[in-house]
Amino acid sequence: MTVLAMPSPDPTPALAGLARRHGAVTTADRLLAVRRWLDDDLAALDAALAAVGADGHGLGWQAARYLLVRPGKRLRPLAVMLAARLGGRPFDEAVRGAAIAAELAHAATLLHDDVLDQADVRRGLPAARVVFGNHASVLGGDHLLVQALRHVHGESLREAFLDVLDALVQAEVAQLERRGRFEPDRGSWLATARGKTSSLFRFCLWGGGWLGGLDADRLATLAALGDALGLAFQLIDDVLDLEGDPEVTGKAVGADLRDGKLTWPLILATERDAELATLLGRAAAGEPIAGLRIAERVRATGALDDARADALRHAEAGRRLLVGLPAGPARDGLALWMEALARRCA
Ligand code: FPP
Ligand code: MG
Repeated sequence: MTVLAMPSPDPTPALAGLARRHGAVTTADRLLAVRRWLDDDLAALDAALAAVGADGHGLGWQAARYLLVRPGKRLRPLAVMLAARLGGRPFDEAVRGAAIAAELAHAATLLHDDVLDQADVRRGLPAARVVFGNHASVLGGDHLLVQALRHVHGESLREAFLDVLDALVQAEVAQLERRGRFEPDRGSWLATARGKTSSLFRFCLWGGGWLGGLDADRLATLAALGDALGLAFQLIDDVLDLEGDPEVTGKAVGADLRDGKLTWPLILATERDAELATLLGRAAAGEPIAGLRIAERVRATGALDDARADALRHAEAGRRLLVGLPAGPARDGLALWMEALARRCA
């Protein structure tokens, strides 16, 4: 099989760069300090992820490795790592296993998701399905899912992980069943965002804390933090679909719109501009749309600004939850992480 060179997958420069782009120079510097504290853990994570499928053969593994060697921000493993350290647990085999499982499951969902969404670009490159085909992308996701499951140690954690997979699939099915119609509904959006985005963040924070031996109250706080983080994240993802720079997001603009996906800014906009709802209904039913013109019309309602403000509110709610967690460098790391996210929302 073709094995691509592995670039450094350290997530911190990406996060620090994000903070810098938004003028948060201090946040960027503090992030780099936390990065130094986690240096060995991140190196161990990189080594473990580099080994996944390194001796795998066939098209499925090629598709999987193609995505894995172009890492994202590694937010999920970082969440596991920091939550475990809240309870004083180092990045040992079990914590590492949960962190790897989260990253692999995330990558698996992307390989599947790009097939479902017929997406052409992922992480700034042609999606794996474009290079290797839809079948290979699905099977590559399956390989990663199997490996993810192998890395989750202990029955409680495995059960929690299976619940996440269940939530992810259910959210995608709900999204699929809505295709072809545009029915703006805040409750549906919330349920889908919780299922497809918050669920894995909840697992990472709760699971890390559980491995760190935190008590039930703190675990509930971490789960709530994961929920807030996921919602903030999804809101920003929705906004970026309409106004993101493809160079930065690594995705095409207007993809959700063309898919007839229910996104938060579209819900807010159609609550204010009834004609837009009719237009989006026709787009969801398959009529070709002028994405940029629709994006402009959405912006004119103030929906993009309000969706950003909603994202910021969730990020701030997450930040407030941190006071319920043990003080120390791990909590500082989580605080910085939330700060970088809030900057992305602002
Ligand atoms: C991205 O949403 C999609 C997800 C985070 C979840 C995808 C889940 C599945 C395909 C089902 C479960 C699969 C497995 C392997 C358990 P999006 O399309 O809104 O975001 P995007 O803009 O990044 O594509
Ligand atoms: Mg998608």
